[in-house]
Amino acid sequence: MKATILIGSARTKGNTEVQAQSVAEALTEEGYEVDTIRPATLKINHCNGCNRCVDDGICHQDDDMQIIYDAFDDSDLFIIATPVYFSGPSSIIKQVIDRFQCRWQSIDEPESSKAVALICNGGSRNPRFENIISIARAFAFATRCRWVGESLVDSTDENDISKVAKAGYKFGKQVAEELREGI
Ligand SMILES: Cc1cc2nc3c(=O)[nH]c(=O)nc-3n(C[C@H](O)[C@H](O)[C@H](O)COP(=O)(O)O)c2cc1C
Repeated sequence: MKATILIGSARTKGNTEVQAQSVAEALTEEGYEVDTIRPATLKINHCNGCNRCVDDGICHQDDDMQIIYDAFDDSDLFIIATPVYFSGPSSIIKQVIDRFQCRWQSIDEPESSKAVALICNGGSRNPRFENIISIARAFAFATRCRWVGESLVDSTDENDISKVAKAGYKFGKQVAEELREGI
C-alpha cells in the first residue's frame, strides 16, 4: 500500500509537518510506503479555468503539478495536510485542489479504490474546521475516492507540539485499520 501526504504549510517543522510525519510513522509501521510532497517547493500555477480539461480530462498547463497527479495516481491513500488560514485551507493546498478540476470530468466513473483523508491544525480554540472538511470531502467526491476521515487539532498556537504528534500517530493507525478492515 502506498500513501502520499501533501504538506500544505510552507513552515518547516511546524504543526502541519509534525502531524504529517507522525501519520507517516504510523502508516509506515502498518506496512505503507509513504511519500510526502511540499507543494510550496514546486512550481504550480493556479487553475485558470480554461476548461480545456472538459474535452479530455487532462490539464494542459505545463508545470510541476504533474508530480502531484502522478503521486495521486500511484497512491492507495492520499492525505491532505493543511493549517487553518482564515477559516479555510492554506492557499497552497487550495491551489492544488483547484488543479484537480480536470479529474472532476470523471465524476460519472465508478468509485475508485483510493482513499482520501485530511489532517488539519488550527491555532485558535475554534478554527472552523467544518469549512476545510467540506472542501477536502469535495475533493474526495470529485476524484471518486473514498473518504476516510480527518484528524483535527485546535489551539496549536498554544505551542504544544506533542499534542499534534500524538493526534497524527493515532490517526495514522486508525486509517490503516479502517482500510485493512474495509470498514
Ligand atoms: C495566514 C494565517 C491565517 C490563520 N488563520 C487562522 C484561522 O482562521 N483560525 C485559526 O484557528 N488559526 C489560524 N491561523 C493559525 C494557524 O492555523 C496555526 O498556527 C497552525 O498551527 C499553523 O500551522 P503550521 O505550524 O503548520 O504552519 C492562521 C495562521 C496564519 C499564518
